[in-house]
Amino acid sequence: MEAQPPVIRAFGDAGVAEAAALIRAGGIVAVPTETVYGLAADARDAQAVARIYAAKGRPSFNPLIVHVADLAAAEAIAVFDDDARALATRFWPGPLTLVLPLRGDAGIVSLVTAGLDTIAVRVPAHRAMQAVLAAAGAPLAAPSANASNGISPTRASHVAASLGARVPLILDDGATAAGVESTIVGGRTILRPGPVTSEMLSTMLPVASGQTEHVSAPGQLATHYAPAKPLRLEAVEAAGDEWLIGFGMVAGDDTLSASGDVVEAAACLFDALHRADASPATRIAVAAVPERGVGVAINDRLRRAAHR
Ligand code: TXA
Ligand code: MG
Repeated sequence: MEAQPPVIRAFGDAGVAEAAALIRAGGIVAVPTETVYGLAADARDAQAVARIYAAKGRPSFNPLIVHVADLAAAEAIAVFDDDARALATRFWPGPLTLVLPLRGDAGIVSLVTAGLDTIAVRVPAHRAMQAVLAAAGAPLAAPSANASNGISPTRASHVAASLGARVPLILDDGATAAGVESTIVGGRTILRPGPVTSEMLSTMLPVASGQTEHVSAPGQLATHYAPAKPLRLEAVEAAGDEWLIGFGMVAGDDTLSASGDVVEAAACLFDALHRADASPATRIAVAAVPERGVGVAINDRLRRAAHR
């Protein structure tokens, strides 16, 4: 039997209602956030969460981020101290995930936390994810909506290409704005760099950068963000059969940002990697991106993609 391709619905009342109905019935739905598209299910329903792992082909020891509508909903599942509340108040809704002690009465299934006594939680800013949260009335576990070890999706078409018939419905609200996954903070340590930069966090708290080489967040495996082709970093020109992704002065087959803007580069990053993977070239080269602001997150993802 031929598998059916996923249904793609434009963001709107009908699409949101359909997504929420699927989630309430224990299903999974791909929903955009301001960072990347997530593959969402009710975090209180073990079978629904199991469907996320099955669709992604993700090892079950890798815990998931739970998305909630607001700080009050987050406080119902996680224990906040003063630091966490300060960060939440300043950066939520937005691309910041906090790893906090799990409340005993949270009602979140252990498959979400992979049995840890902490939980990763965030309040997304995107209208589509917020609408689905409101309509489904549930905390939503949602990893990036790609097959395990694939590139994170920043468009509905990326989700369809990566998961195909394994996701029944994709809510399409165009390209995501931030383009890289949320910043993850545990205590005063950045476990994964992201759109909320260390400079931004430092205006609220003294924060340290985590040792991402040695696996601090369980999912921070070196192979996590990877295109299918070999990738060379800090390229100034394409060699032989390479597809060059440029930045600033380095022009290529494609560019992350011709003007050298790291925020624009983050928004374009995964799109550019998808195009490079789809190109006829057998290798990928990427120009150097400055290690400032969200450039830290871009370089983190690029190093992971190169070291697989
Ligand atoms: O922007 C994002 O964060 C996207 C969108 C969909 O919200 N989600 C995302 O999820 O990137 P995912 O599953 O691809 O990455 C979740 C990361 C993994 O590295 C995982 O190991 C870590 O969060 N994580 C989850 N729970 C954790 C916990 N209790 N302690 C430490 N790390 C945790
Ligand atoms: Mg991911």
